[in-house]
Amino acid sequence: MARIELKDVTYRYPYTKSPALKHITYTFEPGKFYGIIGENGGGKTTLCNLLRGLIPHFYQGSLKGDVIIDGTDVRKWDTDELSAQIGYVFQNPFTQISGIKETVFEEVGMGLENLGYSEEEVIKRVCDVCELLKITDLVEKDPNALSGGQKQRVAFASIISMDTEMLVIDEPTSQLDPEGTEDVFQIIKTLKEEHKTIVLVEHKIDLIAEFCDEIIVLKDGEIVFSGPTHEILSNRALLEANATIPQAAIFGHAMADAGKPLADIPITIEEAERLVRERKG
Ligand SMILES: Nc1ncnc2c1ncn2[C@@H]1O[C@H](COP(=O)(O)OP(=O)(O)OP(=O)(O)O)[C@@H](O)[C@H]1O
Ligand SMILES: [Mg+2]
Repeated sequence: MARIELKDVTYRYPYTKSPALKHITYTFEPGKFYGIIGENGGGKTTLCNLLRGLIPHFYQGSLKGDVIIDGTDVRKWDTDELSAQIGYVFQNPFTQISGIKETVFEEVGMGLENLGYSEEEVIKRVCDVCELLKITDLVEKDPNALSGGQKQRVAFASIISMDTEMLVIDEPTSQLDPEGTEDVFQIIKTLKEEHKTIVLVEHKIDLIAEFCDEIIVLKDGEIVFSGPTHEILSNRALLEANATIPQAAIFGHAMADAGKPLADIPITIEEAERLVRERKG
């Protein structure tokens, strides 16, 4: 299922003065795809930590308000059970790599092993997911000796292999080149088609525009904008919140400013092309 309700959640990390998240109220519905954007230090990763239950189970500090995961308060969830429900790809792949496995193969299979899958099933799934992430040639390598981009693929593989219903994915392409980014987004597209619940933090706004159902914009620990993707990403006020809007939307606003408005503000290149054609026609 994986329905997560946040009710007036305020969270402060230990030994810090001001909260990293303030008065967050939002419901994440199963099967939907959420994009989280906003300035550096805005609270995106902290929100991911909260959704995955690392707050309060791993991070201490002060948590106020309610975090309800599938009807049960996060405080009452068992952490192992949570990890079987919600996969989490960390922003920093260096911290995701366990450091205790000698090969990429073992690293990718570790989560499955912990979930109690048979050896046969582990081998099959690891082979499949390594092929998907194009890391089959790395399976015998030491995970600690990989490049940032390779680590990012391995970290992603180890989470996907667990086939959880919900995925929280924090900047999965930060270490990747354009080709690697495209690969990861193709996989995310497949996950969307499988109706997984997905929460994605990503700075590449054009990718967010193409994939997400809803957008949350965080600034200084607060949700400053949220709602359907088109409505949010066409709003120029996002720029004032230090968030980016797609090139296509900037173009749409420029046309309007020049007294040549399109019928709507586009957020993807395809939309922009269509609206321009319609305007000419
Ligand atoms: N482990 C921690 N302990 C104390 N403070 C933290 C910790 N992690 C983050 N913070 C603080 O919480 C606030 C939100 O940080 P967070 O990492 O959630 O932002 P972010 O939106 O993910 O930023 P970025 O775009 O740089 O990844 C920041 O002020 C940050 O300094
Ligand atoms: Mg972050």
